[in-house]
Amino acid sequence: TKQMFLLCFSCLFLCFENIKSVFLLICVLEHLSHVDADPHEVALWVLLKQTQSANKAIRLQAVQELADNHHWHAYQYQTAAQVIDQRTAVGLARTPHVDLRFFRQPPALPHLEDGTSVEEGLWQLLASLPQSEVDKCVQYFTSLALRESTQSMAAQRGGLWCFGGNGLPYAQSLTSVPSEKVESFCLQALVQHSKVQSHCDHIVAKGGLLLLQRIYQLRRDSPKIQRNIIRIIGNLALNESVHRDIVQSGWLSILAEMMQSPHVTQASFAARALANLDRESVVEKYQDGVYILHPQTRNGQPVKADVLFIHGILGAAFKTWRQKDSSLQQEETETESRSDYTECWPKSWLAEDCPNLRVLSVEYDSHLSDWMSKCPAENQRKSLAYRSQELLKKLKQAGVGERPVVWVAHSMGGLLVKKMLLDASEDPEMKGLLKNTRGVLFYSVPHHGTFMAEYSVNVRYLLFPSIEVRELCKDSPALSSLNESFVNIAKENDFKVMSFTESQATNVGPMIKIVVVPKQSADLGIGELVEVNVDHLNICKPEKKDSFLYKRSLQFIQEALQSFISQ
Ligand SMILES: *[C@@H]1O[C@H](CO)[C@@H](O)[C@H](O)[C@H]1NC(C)=O
Ligand SMILES: *[C@@H]1O[C@H](CO)[C@@H](O)[C@H](O)[C@H]1NC(C)=O
Repeated sequence: TKQMFLLCFSCLFLCFENIKSVFLLICVLEHLSHVDADPHEVALWVLLKQTQSANKAIRLQAVQELADNHHWHAYQYQTAAQVIDQRTAVGLARTPHVDLRFFRQPPALPHLEDGTSVEEGLWQLLASLPQSEVDKCVQYFTSLALRESTQSMAAQRGGLWCFGGNGLPYAQSLTSVPSEKVESFCLQALVQHSKVQSHCDHIVAKGGLLLLQRIYQLRRDSPKIQRNIIRIIGNLALNESVHRDIVQSGWLSILAEMMQSPHVTQASFAARALANLDRESVVEKYQDGVYILHPQTRNGQPVKADVLFIHGILGAAFKTWRQKDSSLQQEETETESRSDYTECWPKSWLAEDCPNLRVLSVEYDSHLSDWMSKCPAENQRKSLAYRSQELLKKLKQAGVGERPVVWVAHSMGGLLVKKMLLDASEDPEMKGLLKNTRGVLFYSVPHHGTFMAEYSVNVRYLLFPSIEVRELCKDSPALSSLNESFVNIAKENDFKVMSFTESQATNVGPMIKIVVVPKQSADLGIGELVEVNVDHLNICKPEKKDSFLYKRSLQFIQEALQSFISQ
């Protein structure tokens, strides 16, 4: 009878959409349960009830206990999945090792009309977006993507692919069905649109969430397409008005699953989207290109300070900071499979050594990297000044500047950090950022541009592929004024500075090996300068956790933040 009784209540539970009725049931059940219910059963109901508490501490605790208990029965997970509200579900998704049965599966996708492909859906969505409020480059690439997919669709219908387009690189290398490529380009254009609020509303209103869901399911084998999709979801999640739509279209179960991926990039994309959804325990917002490497979930140690990683040109938020690759081909597979290999040392090693840090990695301007053709209006936005302003705005939203911070930068990323700190010093709203800066760590940053002119085109491209070459080359007034102002700021604000410099030549092309940033250029004139016997690309990739490069970097961060992070 007890079983029957509980089963009945579970059924009733499922029937009541109205959360108030559910409350009532829980109360009744709780009352009755004192008499004869299984304690394990009662525990679930009590926790579910507590997730509705008016007291936030109780709610947070209940979510954690729900997730920590891995012994619920299958039907209990099912019941929970039906009754938990959005806030609780987001909380569960941000709890380490949570059981994925807590999340409602994405709804069944409506059947596509005959003859409509996913690609056409994507085309229609992209074509319906306003061309306003996005910059010229996004307009340009949107039109390219539309043109290419029109051709591809026409070709698929006619069974013939025509190499007419001159826009996209695959036109030259095409051998098989191009749908995936076209989707990828359309998605990249959509990523750009999802950075604009009014376009987000549009994407949601036009059924974009289900369309993306469909593509996600279809391309389970393409991590890149999946990342672009999750990036869009993360951008949409910046505005709370669409949270309900995101949750209702089943994204939580996908995000929770992706969050548990062993691959740092996948996990970090999901972590950003979930942090933007979690308005219960996160106040910051993570704009496009700002990734939290640590802590990615709830319930970690309280954060005492921030460390920010800024890559160089042609670098990226994750791959720049991986462990040094093995130099020998046959060792490569061995290294990859070694249990201590890390795809991202700031996420694994640094977070382990300093658990009360928030570690962020920032990515800029890599979004058009796949487009081989050049956007005619690209130059203005690649200037250091533009990038600095854009990034400062994003960092402010992420709460950077509200607690002590250390900056870690590779190559041109270091010039960007200097420019940002300089801009912050001139902006009353940004004073906190400068005041809270406790240290800057430079890996092979070309502080002095003078050497540039003497080098080959390849080297220049590696450092500054476009506009920066002009802006930062020999005798550039911008560069020397940046140098001087930064040194002054560092002294005034009394923060620590340290620079690593490479001593090995880097392969920059067939038969060309060169020291990309020589010692005299990496020398800022203040702080310690440490030479390391590696090349330009490996100077920010420690070989092992106990290698000098990592240990010395860790020491710098710990010393700069000593009074804040030591227990
Ligand atoms: C969120 O979206 C709504 C609806 O478009 C808009 O009115 C509001 O200003 C947005 N909020 C933010 C913080 O962008
Ligand atoms: C950079 O600034 C330092 C300190 O003001 C100065 O000694 C050095 O000559 C400057 N270098 C360049 C290239 O401007």
